[in-house]
Amino acid sequence: MAAGLFRTEMSMLSSTLARTYSIPFRKTLISFDSRIAMQTNSLPRTRHSRVASLSSSSPSHSRNFPVPGVEDVFVGYLFGRKKATEVAHVVWEQVIQKGDMVIDATCGNGNDTLAMLKMVTDDSDYFGGCVYAMDVQKDAIESTSSLLNQTLGSKESFSIYAEGMQKERVKLFNMCHSKMEEIVPENSSVRMVAFNLGYLPGGNKSIITVSNTTVLALRAAERILMPGGLISLVVYIGHPGGREELEVVEAFGSSLPVSDWVCCKLQMLNRPLAPVLVFMFKREK
Ligand SMILES: C[S@@+](CC[C@H](N)C(=O)[O-])C[C@H]1O[C@@H](n2cnc3c(N)ncnc32)[C@H](O)[C@@H]1O
Repeated sequence: MAAGLFRTEMSMLSSTLARTYSIPFRKTLISFDSRIAMQTNSLPRTRHSRVASLSSSSPSHSRNFPVPGVEDVFVGYLFGRKKATEVAHVVWEQVIQKGDMVIDATCGNGNDTLAMLKMVTDDSDYFGGCVYAMDVQKDAIESTSSLLNQTLGSKESFSIYAEGMQKERVKLFNMCHSKMEEIVPENSSVRMVAFNLGYLPGGNKSIITVSNTTVLALRAAERILMPGGLISLVVYIGHPGGREELEVVEAFGSSLPVSDWVCCKLQMLNRPLAPVLVFMFKREK
């Protein structure tokens, strides 16, 4: 019953958008996304990532889209059935490749770190790949470590050691994200830097991300991100300082040159405290 209703809603949305913009449904969400982003930009080409298939006009490429799950999550979000973090994860999947290096700038309880780890690694460990995860709270580092141990502990290729020590594929750092350049090896290609701002769910609510270090971290991310990479943010605005932090994030994204970056945000209009999604995609040269 629910599935049938969902399919009907998807189909209605599809035909409405298709009528409005005169585009086939398989491209509806892409156009929706790029309209939000910049009005005039199409998504840039990325040779090895799925984003390439979004920008290609070739029929063989367009057959690759939509990637399974993308439509469901985006449409689910539009209808209030999917969370901002779920949208963030499917956007990451468009950009991240096996073997990539990515950064979780606010690892908290480790949910995002785990999602990233699955995206950069494969079962045989053939591609390598690694996640640098950081948090100012020791509790958060322990929580992330514990989640990884529970989930992946049985797999030798994902062996996890104590905090601050090298892990096979995840390196955990108890530090401020504004210093991320200090721990990323020089000349490495960082595919994504992700922020989930605010405070640790279930933890100390007085330890929150703050505008001045968030903007320093964004500048650092801008410097180390490879072309074809993504800065992703989920910004919570329900706590004191949250709105100001969103303004700082928006100002940063708005200042990036359109020749090199595609920046967009997704925000609920009638849920003023709902988290806001911000994506800054660095075009491939
Ligand atoms: C919303 S939580 C992150 C949730 C996490 N991504 C997850 O999947 O569970 C925000 C985290 O940012 C951390 N944080 C606050 N200020 C920070 C900073 N300057 N550098 C790094 N982490 C920070 C907090 O300690 C908190 O754990």
